[in-house]
Amino acid sequence: MQIVSVLNHKGGVGKTTLTANLGAGLAARGKKVLLIDLDPQASLSLSFFTSEEWSVLAGRTIKDWLVPDSGLDDMKPLISSPPRVNDRLGFSSGYLDMIVADNDLDQFNERAIARTAADPSTFAEVHDRLRHGLSMPAMAEYDIVLLDCSPGFDALGRSAVAACDLLLIPTRPDYLSTNGIQSLGKKIVDFVATFNSHRGKLSPVRRPAPSIVFTMVQMYGGRPIADQRPYMAQVVTPNLPAFESMMSDSKSVYGPAPNHGVPVVLGGLGRAQTRELREIVTELTERLENLVP
Ligand SMILES: Nc1ncnc2c1ncn2[C@@H]1O[C@H](COP(=O)(O)OP(=O)(O)OP(=O)(O)O)[C@@H](O)[C@H]1O
Ligand SMILES: [Mg+2]
Repeated sequence: MQIVSVLNHKGGVGKTTLTANLGAGLAARGKKVLLIDLDPQASLSLSFFTSEEWSVLAGRTIKDWLVPDSGLDDMKPLISSPPRVNDRLGFSSGYLDMIVADNDLDQFNERAIARTAADPSTFAEVHDRLRHGLSMPAMAEYDIVLLDCSPGFDALGRSAVAACDLLLIPTRPDYLSTNGIQSLGKKIVDFVATFNSHRGKLSPVRRPAPSIVFTMVQMYGGRPIADQRPYMAQVVTPNLPAFESMMSDSKSVYGPAPNHGVPVVLGGLGRAQTRELREIVTELTERLENLVP
């Protein structure tokens, strides 16, 4: 199993849209995919389930694993199968499962702050809960787990970093979006160091391999417009590569998709956005194959 976090402390950059499309795209290629919604806004959950379906899942959300005293032995009872996307996947041997979010997921962040303030030596244990859950035999059926993080870098985001092998940072090619990337990198380095200094008997966390995926790119003649190219060049370094394929800006295509419960990547191939999303899925697959175990 390989675990990918989709994280950027900037809001509204396309994290959830990218996660939904990668998940569905990988499932269409025969992968057994688990999505976990780590955002109290529950946008990923509501991209696959109607609000009625989601409300029935109360008590079976990722909060029920992360916030203690739930009495669960593993995360298996929290897994749901979103119906519409799996219907669309049809005869693919892959499928898409999900653990949805809860609007009260912030309780995990609040408890993490309280616990680590009262006793700093609990830092690693607090941030290990998700990694621990994912490492259990009950999760072994999945090829790939995708973690959709909320904006910011709170205890939920840090837990995702502790758990993942690869970090995808969706970024809009503009001044404000690209500016924060360096500080995010520094926060991740600090987090990994703090975790490992308090890890006790836990295995050390390795810094996940990061990659940028440019989103909401304005294209002209098949290339990003000249205004956006300098921002792209500014953030990409040998240690922080970017996917060659990018998500073009198209509100009319991406806006309605969550309402249908089927991401754009599973749409008709005539659509430019479907093609570019499939290229992003291919690049992710290649990156995962090349990861050092
Ligand atoms: N490539 C795109 N082109 C145009 N609009 C997009 C694109 N990708 C996403 N959007 C739209 O932008 C909005 C924000 O997208 P999304 O929810 O994926 O961002 P996010 O980073 O997850 O936000 P948050 O930080 O709130 O979690 C949504 O309305 C979505 O439909
Ligand atoms: Mg989101």
